[in-house]
Amino acid sequence: MINKCLFPVAGYGTRFLPATKALAKEMMPVVNKPLVQYGVEEAIEAGLTRIGFVTGRGKRAIADHFDISYELEHQISGSGKEKYLESIRSVMSKAQFSFTRQNEMKGLGHAILTGETLIGNEPFGVVLADDLCLPDPGQPNVMAQMVKIFNQFRCSIVAVMEVPEDEIHKYGVIKGEAMKDGLYRVDDMIEKPSKDKAPSNLAIIGRYILTPDIFDIIRNTKPGKNEEIQLTDALLTQAQDGCVMAYRFKGTRFDCGSVDGFVSATNHVYENLYTE
Ligand code: UTP
Repeated sequence: MINKCLFPVAGYGTRFLPATKALAKEMMPVVNKPLVQYGVEEAIEAGLTRIGFVTGRGKRAIADHFDISYELEHQISGSGKEKYLESIRSVMSKAQFSFTRQNEMKGLGHAILTGETLIGNEPFGVVLADDLCLPDPGQPNVMAQMVKIFNQFRCSIVAVMEVPEDEIHKYGVIKGEAMKDGLYRVDDMIEKPSKDKAPSNLAIIGRYILTPDIFDIIRNTKPGKNEEIQLTDALLTQAQDGCVMAYRFKGTRFDCGSVDGFVSATNHVYENLYTE
């Protein structure tokens, strides 16, 4: 059974400066809920209720968000405003939270390795909360779709989507052999390729299920693009030595790490999902 999910939330969020100078990017609200809460709700719905955060400096608000605020609870107890706390109370009652800190921003691979202490020797989900993924109406969410595939194949899985040629340089990109229902067996991956070097138009987004051998692989992975320890490089080693699957998920993903994606997500949630 897979029941743990890691949230690397240590990044600086430079694309949102100055907003993210003192505010964690993951705490930015899409309408009235912080990005990270959408991600945690997705993990819980997928059955991953042991939530681990890899945090960094200036991210204390994330820990506070998933803890009881006694003054606030006392202040609004019995009033009509209690309904505003329902969603976060529900999250807190269903999951356990643990935290560790990444002291230096050495890349996503390094952040995942820092989370080893929270995960141990088990397969686990990874959610990058700045990728907001919304399921099609009435359908399981993206992490739940991936858990189902993991239970069948028992190997690492990356979520992918088709992206236009002129955006491919922003992503890790896979080359793989198509199997069935949007599933590919990965045989190559490149982090942020130029469009003429991209092996396909299938880009990795911020949802993964990883088997725990990834930790040793990351330990032996040298810094790559931007001198960071890239998860994509470690996944390529894993794909070459064993098995990594890519899954073209069903649903809509918003890149909330960029201003355009964040605004689109806000409009979408306000028009389709927001209830007071
Ligand atoms: P991004 O590439 O989006 O970087 O990281 P960022 O710092 O958050 O944002 P920009 O590009 O400066 O605007 C992808 C994910 O990996 C985490 C980030 O928190 C984000 O969820 N991350 C990245 C870490 O936790 N540690 C790192 O060293 C790097």
